[in-house]
Amino acid sequence: MAGEDARIALVVAVAENDVIGWQGGLAWHQSSDLKFFRKVTMNKPLIMGRKTFESIGKPLDGRDNIVVTRNTSFQAPGILIAANLEDALVLAREKARARGADEISVIGGAQIYELTLPVADRIYLSEIHYSPDGDTFFPRINKAQWREISRERHAAGAKDAADYSFVVLERIR
Ligand SMILES: NC(=O)c1ccc[n+]([C@@H]2O[C@H](COP(=O)([O-])OP(=O)(O)OC[C@H]3O[C@@H](n4cnc5c(N)ncnc54)[C@H](OP(=O)(O)O)[C@@H]3O)[C@@H](O)[C@H]2O)c1
Repeated sequence: MAGEDARIALVVAVAENDVIGWQGGLAWHQSSDLKFFRKVTMNKPLIMGRKTFESIGKPLDGRDNIVVTRNTSFQAPGILIAANLEDALVLAREKARARGADEISVIGGAQIYELTLPVADRIYLSEIHYSPDGDTFFPRINKAQWREISRERHAAGAKDAADYSFVVLERIR
């Protein structure tokens, strides 16, 4: 049943030096990737860290926004709070069932990717082909545990910092 077995998918854009963020925001402007992100996450439950939520600044439309924080009094309009990853996953599965969604999107940042990597089934990896300054990094993945199921390379568009590739990885069972 959709929801019960919802896949856990990390959705991340990573530069060639593993950078994912800088000074609380993204380390680049990459319009093509924002469009891809919207498409991949639409109509799904999202799990994100409190810092990533604050960098986005508002709930993302058409999706359940679940924010993981240890601060029990944290609240913001349009978001659901989870005190830890386990609670976030329970809530996300419930929301996936209600929507009939087959996937839960984990959208960062580094702390939340680190926590969820061991339970992730899939990674939507946007490789951004340059090496910007950054202070937040995607955790190293054990390549032996992942199979690349698709890869598409694109030249930078007018509103992109660099060429990029959309890659999908699936955990080898
Ligand atoms: N390139 C990309 O695809 C991408 C995607 C997302 C984010 N980013 C970037 O990544 C950076 C943010 O990442 P980050 O690692 O600093 O922060 P983060 O993972 O977004 O959020 C960290 C916060 O999550 C909460 N948290 C973490 N572990 C927890 C646990 N075990 N239990 C309960 N709460 C927990 C804590 O919130 P409290 O402090 O409130 O307790 C912690 O401060 C930004 O620069 C952002 O732009 C990049």
